[in-house]
Amino acid sequence: MNNELNFYNKIKNWDFSKIKYIEESLTNWDLYTILNKEATKNSYILDLGTGAGEKLLKNFPEVKKIVGTDFSPEMIKTAQFNLEKSKRKNIEFRVMDNLNMNIENDCFDIVVARHTCINAKQIYKCLKKGGILLVRGVDKLDCFELKKMYGKGQAYNDIKPISQIDYENILDAGFKNVELVPIHIREYYKTKNDLIALLLKAPILQDFSEINENENLNEKLDFSIIDNYIKNHETDKGILLIRRYYGIVAYK
Ligand SMILES: C[S@@+](CC[C@H](N)C(=O)[O-])C[C@H]1O[C@@H](n2cnc3c(N)ncnc32)[C@H](O)[C@@H]1O
Repeated sequence: MNNELNFYNKIKNWDFSKIKYIEESLTNWDLYTILNKEATKNSYILDLGTGAGEKLLKNFPEVKKIVGTDFSPEMIKTAQFNLEKSKRKNIEFRVMDNLNMNIENDCFDIVVARHTCINAKQIYKCLKKGGILLVRGVDKLDCFELKKMYGKGQAYNDIKPISQIDYENILDAGFKNVELVPIHIREYYKTKNDLIALLLKAPILQDFSEINENENLNEKLDFSIIDNYIKNHETDKGILLIRRYYGIVAYK
C-alpha cells in the first residue's frame, strides 16, 4: 500500500483538539473567511482530502451541497460518523483519490483543497465557469528549524517549494486571476508532550517518498532532539513553532 495512504488509514481522524497550543497569525489570509464570503446558499462545494471532515463540518457554510472526499477509507468512515453526530444536512462523504478524480465536468462552484495534494487540470474540469479554487498548503519552510535538526521532514529535500509548483500548475491548467499568498503563523505549544503529540500525528518530520512501507513512523522520533529544540524555543507563551503555509485563490 502507498505510504501516505497507510499513514492516514492508521490515524483514521484529523482531530487535534486535545493538543494545547495557541496560534498567532501574522498574515491576513483565511481560507474559511474567503469560502464563506464566496459561497451562496445555492453553491455546490467539493472538499478534497477532507480527512474525517472535522474542518468541513465546523467551518463550511450551509449551501445546496457539499461533497467531502478522501483517498483513505478509514478517514471517510470517521467522517460519516462525525457527520451523523453533527446533524448537518446536504453533506456527503466519499472515497476518492485527488490525483484520479471521479467527478463530472462543470458541476462545482467551489473546490477547496486544504493541506492535501491537488491535480489542477482535473479540478479545472470539474468546476463550473467562473468557479473558484481555494488552496491552503503546507510549504517547504514549515517548521524548518526542527526539520534542520532532524535533517529530514515533509518537503525538506524539495528543490522547488510546493507553493510554487501548485501555483504554476494552476496557471498551466487555465485558471485566471491566480493569487499566491505566503502565510506565516506562530504556534506556541503548552508543554513538551503537546509538541510531541503534534509531531506524532502530523506528517511534519516524515517524508512519504523516503520511508519504508513497513516502518512505524512514530518509532523514528528522536526525543533528545526535541529537548534541544525546546531549549532554544521556550517562550513566555509556550514552545514556539514557526508554521509556513500558502494560500491560493484561482478562478475558472
Ligand atoms: C493533512 S490532512 C488534511 C485534512 C483536512 N483537509 C484539513 O485541512 O484538516 C490530509 C488529508 O489528505 C488526504 N490525502 C492525501 N493524499 C490524497 C490523495 N492523493 N487523494 C485523496 N486524499 C488524499 C489524507 O488521507 C488526509 O486525510
